[in-house]
Amino acid sequence: MALVLAALGIYGLLTQQVIRRTLEIGIRILDAEHRKLATMIGMLGSDLAAGEDVRRVRASFEKLIAFTEVHFATEEALMDRYVIEDRIAHKQEHRKLLQDARSLAASLDESNMMLTMSSLNEWLLRHVDSADKELARQMQARGYADASRKPPPSLRRQSAAASR
Ligand SMILES: [Fe+2]
Ligand SMILES: [Fe+2]
Repeated sequence: MALVLAALGIYGLLTQQVIRRTLEIGIRILDAEHRKLATMIGMLGSDLAAGEDVRRVRASFEKLIAFTEVHFATEEALMDRYVIEDRIAHKQEHRKLLQDARSLAASLDESNMMLTMSSLNEWLLRHVDSADKELARQMQARGYADASRKPPPSLRRQSAAASR
């Protein structure tokens, strides 16, 4: 048991580093939400490693799922606003990810906690690294810029012309 917990701790540290590198997609609000999701998954891992009772772990899982719904709503609103090409497939992937998270939460027990953690990290990383990165790429191609960053030159010219 102690060995499993130690492995889970080391595993948690390594995956947090990988997560931080992989999660940055260049859209500030989405980067912040992805970091929050990674933190919530990390906390879930700590709960599991500390041998917290299943009720508490399940409650953390429910919070993770609730925030995932909020995050997906943020992304889907941006997809619609920027008329992202493959938004229907991306939204379907969100539905599937929520289903997967719910079934992981339902099948939670001590014997499969390593599996639960690796599935959850995979669950987040693979999606961010593929569908979300493509969303960011298309948003930026359509002129999206974070508020504190300079807008692309074409938009700067438009706003300079408008203020004359
Ligand atoms: Fe995302
Ligand atoms: Fe997404």
